[in-house]
This record gives sequence, C-alpha cells and structure tokens, in this order.
Amino acid sequence: MANPYEVAFEQSMNDPDGFWGKAAEDVAWTKKWDKVLDDSNKPFYRWFVGGELNTCYSALDLHVEEGRGDQPALIYDSPVTDTIKSYTYKELTDEVAKFAGVLAAQGVTKGDRVLIYMPMIAEAAIAMLATVRIGAVHSVVFGGFAAAELATRINDAKPKVIVSASCGIEVTKVIKYKPLLDEAIEIAESKPEKCVIIQRPMETASMIEGRDVDWVEAMGTAQPADCVPVAATDPCYILYTSGTTGQPKGVVRDTGGHVVALKWTMKNIYNVDAGDTYWAASDVGWVVGHSYIVYGPLFKGCTTILFEGKPVGTPDAGVFWRVISQHKVKSMFTAPTAFRAIKREDPRAEMMKDYDLSNFKYLFLAGERLDPDTLKWAENNLGIPVIDHWWQTETGWAICANCEGLHHFPVKEGSPTKPAPGWNLQVVDESNNQVAAGQIGALVVKLPLPPGTLPTLWKNDPRYIESYLEEFPGYYKTADAGFIDDEGYAFVMSRTDDIINVAGHRLSTGAMEEVLSDHPEVAECAVLGVEDQLKGQVPVGFVVLNAGVDRSHDEIISEVVQMVRERIGPVASFKKATVVKRLPKTRSGKILRGTIQKIADNKDFKVPATIDDPTILGEMEEALNTIGLAKSRQ
Ligand code: COA
Ligand code: AMP
Repeated sequence: MANPYEVAFEQSMNDPDGFWGKAAEDVAWTKKWDKVLDDSNKPFYRWFVGGELNTCYSALDLHVEEGRGDQPALIYDSPVTDTIKSYTYKELTDEVAKFAGVLAAQGVTKGDRVLIYMPMIAEAAIAMLATVRIGAVHSVVFGGFAAAELATRINDAKPKVIVSASCGIEVTKVIKYKPLLDEAIEIAESKPEKCVIIQRPMETASMIEGRDVDWVEAMGTAQPADCVPVAATDPCYILYTSGTTGQPKGVVRDTGGHVVALKWTMKNIYNVDAGDTYWAASDVGWVVGHSYIVYGPLFKGCTTILFEGKPVGTPDAGVFWRVISQHKVKSMFTAPTAFRAIKREDPRAEMMKDYDLSNFKYLFLAGERLDPDTLKWAENNLGIPVIDHWWQTETGWAICANCEGLHHFPVKEGSPTKPAPGWNLQVVDESNNQVAAGQIGALVVKLPLPPGTLPTLWKNDPRYIESYLEEFPGYYKTADAGFIDDEGYAFVMSRTDDIINVAGHRLSTGAMEEVLSDHPEVAECAVLGVEDQLKGQVPVGFVVLNAGVDRSHDEIISEVVQMVRERIGPVASFKKATVVKRLPKTRSGKILRGTIQKIADNKDFKVPATIDDPTILGEMEEALNTIGLAKSRQ
C-alpha cells in the first residue's frame, strides 16, 4: 500500500490544481483565487490567480484572532548581548503594525521597495513583516556584504526607504553597519528617500539630517497601519543571490504561492504544528532566514527563534543545546558547517549532557552537501532523525527532503532523500534526454515549479529565461549535478556553474575574479572553491601578473585579498591566493578549472588531452604548496 508521502506525491503530479488548491484552503484570503495554476503564458506560470491576501495578516493577525495572542511568536535570543526577549503574537502584531505606520509615514505604499540591511535582531523581522503589511516589497541584504555589493542591490531594487542599524555583533567584534550603508548610498545611482536607523547601545551611528530617521523616535509617534491586501501574484520580496557574474540575481517571491507552500511545508516536511517551537539557526539575509526564521513558522502559528550568535564562541560549543533546551525546540534547521564547528570544539558532545533535549525531535540540515561524518556524529549524539534536505534561494523551500510529516524513509548517506510533493525532478544529459537511474547528469525540474518558487527575476524576465529555462527546454535548471538511484533517492553532487558554498553561504567565484582582474598589476586570474574541513569550501585565487611587475608577491596578494573583502565582503572568506606564472589552459584557451581544483583537493586527476602545455601542472602544484594546499603530493 502506498504511504502518505507516495499518495501526496502522486496527487501533486497528476492533479496539481487539486493538491495545491486544497493546501490553499488552509490560508486566509481576502478574495479567493479564480484559478489555482495559470499556464496561459508559458514559460511564466502563475499560482492562485485572482486571489488576494496579506502576508503579514497570515503570519500574525490571523493567529491573534484565532486565540494565539498570548503565545510567544518570536523569541530573540542573543548570547552576544546577553539578551532574551520574547514577543507574543499580540505584542509582535502591535509592534509590526506600528512600524508599518512608520514606513507609511515615510511615504511607503503598495509595491514600493524597502531594503533591509540589519543584524540578527528582532527589529529585522519586524521590518520585514511591516513592509509586507502595507503591501510593499522587501529586499533584505545580508550584513556580511560590503558597501559595493549593497550598492548594486540598491540600484536594482530602487528602494524608497532603507532600514538599518548602527551595528552588528560578530562574536565580540562590533561591526559598524551605518558607515557601510552611507558609503553604499554614496556609490549607488538610485538614492533612497529615507533611512530608518535603530541605534544599538554598543554603537551610536551619526545621522544625516533630513534623510535619517531614528527608529525609536519614529515608533514613539507612529500610528499603527492596517494590512493591505495584494494580489496573490504580486511580489512579496526580492532576495538577491549570487549569479555567475558580479551582478546578483534578484529572486522574486510572489505572495499567494509563498504563504500556501511554506505553511504546507511546516507540517508535511518539518512535522511541526501550531504551538510548537521551531528554530532555524541562519540569518534573515539568506533564504533560510526568510522562509524558516520568519515566514514559515509564523504562518503555521509556531514559536520561532531569532538567534544572534554563532554555534561556537558565543560563549561556547554548548549554545545550540542551551537554546534547544531553554525554548523547548521541537525541530531545528541549520547548515552542516555549524555542526562541523561544534564537533571540532566538542568532539565527544560533552556539552550536550548539561541540557535536557527531550523536546527535540528533528534536526534538518541544508545549504551544502552533508558529509557522512557530520551526519553520523549528529545522529549518534542526538539520537533523533537527522534530515538532509536540498533547496536553493530560487526555490524558497525544499526540492528534496525526507518529508517527516508524511513518511520517514531510511536515511541514505549523501542523499537528501526524495523529491518533495510538487517537484518533478529529473536527471538529464546535455541533449536534455533523461538518463538511467544511478547515472550522473544535470538535475532539472519539469515545469511548472510548485507554488512558493520564483516566478521570475526582478524586472528581468530575459535573464530568468536565460539562467534557468533555456538550456533544458521544458525544465528548470537547478545548476546542480547529481543522480537519482533505483529507489528514487536523489544525490546532489556539485554545482555545474561557478557558484561555491562557503560555510553554507552562496558565493560566485566569477564575481571574485572580476574583483581580482581590477587590480592594475593582474593580467589574468582564476578563483576556485577548494575543500575546507570547517566551511565545506573556501575560495582560492590564482593570479598571473603583468610582464615586468617586480613588486613583492606577498604585497600584491594582500592587496587582492583586501579588495575582495572591501568589494564583496568578509563573508566571502577570501584569504588565500597565490601568484603563478601562467594558468593551465586547453589549446583553445579555456582555463582548466576542474584540473586545478583536483590538484588543490589532492584528488586523482588525468592530464586532460586538450591541455596546451602539461608541464604547467607541476608549477600549479608548487604554487598550491606555498599556500598549504595539495600538500600530500609532496
Ligand atoms: N555581518 C558582518 N560580518 C559578518 C556577518 C554579518 N552578518 N556574518 C559573517 N560576517 C563576517 C565574519 O565576522 C567573518 O569575518 P572575519 O573574516 O573578519 O573573521 C567573515 O564574515 C566570515 O564569516 P563566517 O562565514 O560566519 O565564518 P566564521 O569563521 O566567523 O564562522 C561558522 C564559521 C561555521 C561558525 C559560521 O559560518 C556559522 O555559524 N555558520 C552557520 C551556517 C549558516 O548560518 N549558514 C547560512 C545558511 S543556512
Ligand atoms: P542557496 O541558494 O544559498 O540556498 O544555495 C543553493 C545551493 O546550495 C544549491 O544549488 C546546492 O548547490 C547547495 N545545496 C543546498 N542544499 C544542499 C544539500 N542538502 N546538499 C547538497 N547541496 C546543497
């Protein structure tokens, strides 16, 4: 007999209208949809056409009206400031309505963009919810990005208002956000009319008269604003993610599909109900933070945790266990790198023993490949299901998962289990033909994508088509390679483009190459992601200098490292680079990235038949040795 996962999956494939129409009945609409799926303008698909709703109402007011007003909605837990502050649904609704009033008073109306550049404080979530309350569109930018990256996003989203804070806290370092914001606005062509700034006690930002508004002062006089219903197909937010160039992609999330899909995932994938505590240890600047710190748990009526800290060092490797135990977390989500950090500091999980983890039922990991050692360590020490699941900024929720609310499949190492309902995942070769089970190819999803995924890129339909739909007609290209085995388990092996995952953060090596190429003494360069025990991958740069440059190589390297930090941001973790005489290339001039990567990672490799000059590989190995890589071949 088919299990509930199989039943749901089959229905989602054979009758998507029936399947998602039923899920949509669990959502509060101010106007019901006319059509579940509108496929009249392929390849653009639209969900819940004709429907109207408000995202903030679905996340907050609805629960107050349904009697959850006194339940904690959001717990801000900040070991770096020694603060724990809990907001009930009623309190959070009031705060958000008031801040929505602040935004409205600055002239923000339906469809306007509000850019949010904030550390992990409750006000970040309040600003997001307030924006969508008045039908505006937010774009959150991760705090670890530099001013230039922020400026690119300001130019693309053209926000009317920017919300930011005086500083963030990285373990013990105070990171001043406001000077970065001022610099970004200075560089950007598009200028916001106003900036609302929250002054944190550890740093007072200087304010620009006429433009900058103090959060606390504005809240003091604000009139609460009501929810403004928008069309299901109107944008809820834009989230920029790394593309293959320095120009990030503005992933758009629509309103109706987003609420329907995320609410559905809370029970069916994460197996949590209203009233349960759910914790995603990520950052609101990433998609995990959007979907599972803010929206998903609140749509479901859960208690969500917003954690300002790191898995280690704030104050120690026991902090995750402390948070889980203190707030009675049932289901948690983080990146494998966080667990590698804990395992490195506390290999025998001694610190876990100090805490009562009896409410903790599931650990979900995503963002990068889950290595078997980390999986085993977590399984053995926690004694609960450890679930790898695979998704992307673009998809907004899991393409593949062990859907715990439907059926638990035995875990296979290296696999995020099976496609979630709604995802017709296939593996194809270069000619777009399906390959046999077990064979590696491009992981693609047959269109239409389910609700809650990207309908397009912000103001850029051509790039949406070119990036995702053109190479494999009829399919969405995930840009991940992998295979599906004969039991239907998917395995995600690597990206097919130049995206790398550094501590679960998605970065483009192409964008770093653009920065390196701007150094006046660099003739040519390559940046690759090499394996790293803690972060999964880290970028490493190879630079060829212009003829006649006789300055110290160390000096030039430290300059390019600094340039990446200043132009992309510290989050790139670009710390290693080396000067080489030349780069290995094919006879037609293409850099042999795959071969360099294998040398760096100490993997076996074949000298490519197309290589221009094989002797160069020895030079590469020597260069890598100088920065502590490719060591075992010495
Ligand atoms: N604002 C400003 N700077 C930031 C920042 C932020 N929000 N987030 C990170 N940075 C800086 C860090 O301070 C660090 O700077 P440094 O080079 O001066 O030391 C740099 O960016 C790299 O940060 P990070 O990748 O976090 O590395 P780390 O060495 O500080 O910590 C881990 C390593 C594994 C502990 C950390 O990456 C982590 O907790 N990861 C969890 C996974 C996660 O949240 N993934 C998101 C997707 S689920
Ligand atoms: P992001 O858009 O930042 O969420 O990054 C998405 C990319 O991270 C995917 O395309 C994958 O390359 C990688 N990724 C995410 N989750 C997993 C996973 N569970 N296993 C392997 N790779 C993953």
